[in-house]
Parts: sequence; C-alpha cells; structure tokens
Amino acid sequence: MRKTEKSKGAPKKRLGIRGKVSAHPYKSDRKKFSSGRKAKLGTCSVVSSERMNRNHYMSVTGLEFSYGEVQVLHGLEFELPAQSVCCVMGRNGVGKTTFLRNIVGLEKPSAGSVLIGGTEFLGLDASDRAVRGIGYVPQGRQIFPLLTVEENLSVGLEAAPPDQRQIPTAVYDTFPVLYDMRKRRGGDLSGGQQQQLAIGRALTTRPKLLVLDEPTEGIQPNVITMIGEIIRNLVAQEGMTILLVEQYLDFVRSYGDSFAVMSRGQFVVSGRVEDLDSNTVHKHLSV
Ligand SMILES: Nc1ncnc2c1ncn2[C@@H]1O[C@H](COP(=O)(O)OP(=O)(O)OP(=O)(O)O)[C@@H](O)[C@H]1O
Ligand SMILES: [Mg+2]
Repeated sequence: MRKTEKSKGAPKKRLGIRGKVSAHPYKSDRKKFSSGRKAKLGTCSVVSSERMNRNHYMSVTGLEFSYGEVQVLHGLEFELPAQSVCCVMGRNGVGKTTFLRNIVGLEKPSAGSVLIGGTEFLGLDASDRAVRGIGYVPQGRQIFPLLTVEENLSVGLEAAPPDQRQIPTAVYDTFPVLYDMRKRRGGDLSGGQQQQLAIGRALTTRPKLLVLDEPTEGIQPNVITMIGEIIRNLVAQEGMTILLVEQYLDFVRSYGDSFAVMSRGQFVVSGRVEDLDSNTVHKHLSV
C-alpha cells in the first residue's frame, strides 16, 4: 500500500484557533523558540502610507481586488519588516489566500501598490516576481503527484535563468527526506513530506521573501516543529523575510515575530506576537 497522510496517522482535525485556543500538540517545543531567538526588527503593521518606514521590506497600500463582481480586498494596508516572520491570521474566507496571491502575482489587483525592496511590483507577473526573489508555498501544497520529487523541485526553477537551473544542494540539506525520495513520485509522499517538498520547491530559487499559506495544515506535530525551526533558520542564517498565513495560535507564538489579523479583506489589528492577547483572539479569531 502506498504511504498516504492517512496511513501515517496524521490528525484528521486541526486544533488551534478554530478549536480550543490553548490546546496544541507540540507545546513542549515552544521553549526552544523563546523571544531571544527572534528578530527585534519591528512588526508587520496596519498603518497609513504617510507613516511608511524605509526599513520595511514590503509596503502594501490601497490594495483592492475582486473576483468578478465580488470585492474581496478593500484598500488593504500592510507593512512587513525585513528579516522577520509575520503571521497573517483571520477566520475562514476573509481573504488571506487572496492577499498572498496578489503579493506573489497570481492575481492582479484593481488598485493599490506593492513595494518590495523599494521597487513597485504591481506590473510584474508571477514568474518575474519569482526571479526577483519571491518564493511561494501555496495552501494545500499543490505539488504534481505524477512527477518525481526531483521533477517537482525543478518546476520551481523554471523561472530562473538557464545557468541557474540546478537544484541547490541546500534544499536537500534542509530536507534530507527529499534527497532520499528524489526518484519517488510526489503523490506517493505523505502529507508532511509533500509539505517539505512544497517548501523545498519554493527555496530552489533562493528567495529573499518566502510566502507560505497555512504551512501546518494537516501536518503531524513533529513536522510542524521542523517547519517552524526551518523558518527561523531561514531568517537567522539566510536573512530571509517570511510572510505566512497561519491558523495555529501556538505556531504563531512559537515561531512568529509579529502578527496581522485580517477581517473582511482588511487588516484590523497587528503587533508583536507577545501582544497577541486573548481579547484579540476571541474578538477576531475564535469561532
Ligand atoms: N477563484 C475564486 N473565485 C471566486 N471567489 C473566490 C475565489 N477564490 C476565493 N474566493 C472567495 O473569496 C473570499 C476569500 O477567499 P480566500 O481563499 O482568500 O479566503 P481565506 O481567508 O484564505 O480562507 P481560508 O481560511 O478558508 O483559507 C471567499 O469568500 C472565497 O469564497
Ligand atoms: Mg486560505
């Protein structure tokens, strides 16, 4: 029988802000990631353009986006400090994935500005943005089940210049299981291995900004911990900036530097993860 997420005993139901807020299966690992390991570079924030800070790696202003007649993003404002981990949170359907897809160039906003490293990215398509240093790990992983692990990783390199289309050894160093399984088909990997593959694929182009959409969704606790550690290492050792959507409150508190809560296509509250108090959680996140 092929290995599947189910056969490996992955939890069927996620705990986190959708359920009891305090419950989390890998809580014991949190101590390792106390604030001493985290960047002290400010927070992702919801501020007006006049207050834009030059130290912010990305500044989004007035972002508007609609699916046909239905407007999803409503003049969204957002700032992301360099070399830190910002966690976007919010209830289902508020527009988190749509926001990320607008940042990576898979959707085109009707208005607004996306400044990254001082450059306006709005007119660039997704492959141009990838070449300029944006890596994307989509919600649900979206690996190619019939391609091998190696081929899946190579897909991430398609936007790279021809002389840079080798899979970097650092990807296999980061995820040794991908090297061991490089000839296996992506669809034969467990859910946790597929998530590693999706992150590995985004890292092949050595991004400066890594955007991840719910990287812990449907993943076992030990792999969640590993992903959290890798994210912190990418910031500390590679100087990467990380923007992720996350529903697990404990993951945000363990591995995030700052948070921003979205409601109906706008950010309504933001700050340091230390300041993510139960009032905010109950008002904007609890079901
Ligand atoms: N391709 C699409 N066409 C039309 N409407 C869409 C499309 N994708 C998303 N939507 C709608 O846009 C809204 C925002 O969706 P989005 O996927 O961005 O939410 P989300 O916050 O990521 O939700 P979740 O927590 O469930 O992942 C929802 O009402 C959704 O139904
Ligand atoms: Mg989503």
